[in-house]
Amino acid sequence: MRIDIVSIFPEYLAPLELSLVGKARTSGLLDVHVHDLRDSTTDRHHTVDDTPFGGGAGMVMRPDVWGVALDGLLGEASHLLIPTPSGTTFTQRTAEALATQEHLVIACGRYEGIDARVAEHYRERGIRVSEVSIGDYVLNGGEVAALVLVEAVARLLPGVVGNPQSLVEESHGLAGLLEYPVYTKPPSWAGLEAPDVLLSGHHGRVERWRRDQALTRTAELRPDLIAALDVAMLDRADLAR
Ligand code: ADE
Repeated sequence: MRIDIVSIFPEYLAPLELSLVGKARTSGLLDVHVHDLRDSTTDRHHTVDDTPFGGGAGMVMRPDVWGVALDGLLGEASHLLIPTPSGTTFTQRTAEALATQEHLVIACGRYEGIDARVAEHYRERGIRVSEVSIGDYVLNGGEVAALVLVEAVARLLPGVVGNPQSLVEESHGLAGLLEYPVYTKPPSWAGLEAPDVLLSGHHGRVERWRRDQALTRTAELRPDLIAALDVAMLDRADLAR
């Protein structure tokens, strides 16, 4: 997969050189390019924004500057992502869908956002465009959201995560539940014991305990996820809880 990210703060995306995403890049599973939006300006001051039509606070990013930047990057196989708090909520399902794409282009806005004609223009030209929010809060720009999108998508690419089973069992995986609590050595720490069942070596009981923990935790912390569960995915013991 190739990912292009456009921002007025390319340095903000330096963490993409680290950890799992960094490794995926060096091993050739992921090709990431970061571009400075100001390279697409033509004036002496490298202006990227202007005052909003209709008045109001803040500045809006100019569509002509974004047009130059994006025309140079978008092709038939591209999916344009515009992080914005007024987009649809980015979820694990969104990450899964994006992980199947060949080319993502992420346009990081700042200030009050990017002139709305940019999304409209590329949609009209037949490019897939998604305006996505990473949650109901407001950041100063799209860069942190872009880091979130890239990490969530990159770890789903085949070969990026060492053991694919860890993708199946984790929170927001297919089961629709939060993950069960995890423990490691030492068995006793700070007066707290790791649950006996996990040391029992009894695979069936461990599985049942983990599933119960996942159900209880989800019911307590995220009742919305329990309400959304597909009943067909529940076993008889689940229904007895
Ligand atoms: N830009 C500013 N806030 C954002 C959010 N919550 N999600 C995505 N992009 C943003």
